[in-house]
Amino acid sequence: MAPRRFPHGFAWGVATASYQNEGAVHEGGRSPSIWDSFSHTPGKIADGGTGDVACDHYHRYREDVELLAELSVTHYRFSLAWPRLQPDGRGALNPAGLDFYVRLVDALLERGIQPWVTLYHWDLPQVLQDEGGWPERDTALRFADYAAAVHERLQDRIQVWTTLNEPWCSSLVGHAAGAHAPGIQDPGLALRAAHHLLLGHGLAIEAMRSQADDRSRFGVTVNLQPVSPAGDDPKDRDAARRIDLIANRMFVDPLLRGGYPADFADHATRFTDLSHVAPGDEAIIAAPLDLLGINYYFGVVVRSGERKGGPSPWVGCEDVEFVSRGLPRTQTDWEIDPDGLHDLLVRVAREYPGAPPLYLTENGVALADRPPTDGVVDDPARIEYLDAHFRAAHRAIGEGVDLRGYFVWTLMDNFEWRFGYTKTFGLYQVDFETQRRTPKASARWFAEVIRRNGPA
Ligand code: FCB
Repeated sequence: MAPRRFPHGFAWGVATASYQNEGAVHEGGRSPSIWDSFSHTPGKIADGGTGDVACDHYHRYREDVELLAELSVTHYRFSLAWPRLQPDGRGALNPAGLDFYVRLVDALLERGIQPWVTLYHWDLPQVLQDEGGWPERDTALRFADYAAAVHERLQDRIQVWTTLNEPWCSSLVGHAAGAHAPGIQDPGLALRAAHHLLLGHGLAIEAMRSQADDRSRFGVTVNLQPVSPAGDDPKDRDAARRIDLIANRMFVDPLLRGGYPADFADHATRFTDLSHVAPGDEAIIAAPLDLLGINYYFGVVVRSGERKGGPSPWVGCEDVEFVSRGLPRTQTDWEIDPDGLHDLLVRVAREYPGAPPLYLTENGVALADRPPTDGVVDDPARIEYLDAHFRAAHRAIGEGVDLRGYFVWTLMDNFEWRFGYTKTFGLYQVDFETQRRTPKASARWFAEVIRRNGPA
């Protein structure tokens, strides 16, 4: 096969998140987040794990920056812990929290690696949850204040500022399925949370932009899923329309098209009177963006089936069934579907012609890795997975998609939310007894891809 070269200046990176990696939850003045509360609630996390220590990245960040240098990434996407920077959820920033991120960013810059920040990767200060959390409008205002305060202090060092990671997860998985913090199971509250996350995003962009020097660039990351109907039956097509609404359009349309899609109100009013959507909100949410981050893991095929009860993120889709395509599956039981990535990128470019440049801010795979031999973990299936997805992205670029970067999830094995430590996505293996990091063969391979600016 011919070598695939990515466009000149393509950003290659890895992505991580504060609660999954940092540990040190009681240090440096950090207050508890909703994920501390959730992970410490018996029965919520597969192996009973918590982020108390995680990868101890708070103490080992220098060593971890060396791993990034070894990978030769151009960018490092990580999240700032709101409860570390603003332990009260409002007011003055915590100097010890700021100091940690200044040291991390300086270490990155010394290695020529550009920091790429996510302001919110799910760790809401528990104090704000106690006041109602994302279902309350005030949380959006608190988020904008936090974003502006941190941006003001760190914009001299950090150029890329993204607001949210995956509002679909924080709203629907956290408030309808209850499988993520804060563990609420109420579809109406989930839709309110989704709106206030989007509103907080828009307000934060507005606040940061008004004080930005000319180097700052602003964006947001959404997780999108290609959805197709199992067959031609109008009922199956309607099932696909509704899943697409909840997974994709309910987030991307307000961000890029200036408002909720036409079929949203009809769908949502089964669960809420939408009185939380104030006039003018949609204009705020549609603040101009310099980039759109997309996280991609898999696509889905759906059909109309039996009406089921029980909590799920798929608000208003109780009768929808997910159909297996018989594709190989990952450790998290997700179908491996590189064509879905191609189709998704092409769809975003086609259906949102005014979209800003796209970045794939997460893609990666959990596999049951073996222990190391001779200092390396052999993971051919991860290499195969990434290679196929890089090729799919390259194909989309060839068809005119303005994709400017690709971040692999993730640097090292870490606290994988409700799965605890049972699912391993890292390019480096972590021995959680000793905190020793060991490269997987995929780390070496990825470094080669970056050096060549594309797979072989
Ligand atoms: C995404 C999250 C990320 C990680 C990957 C596997 O939904 O953004 O933190 O858990 O999934």
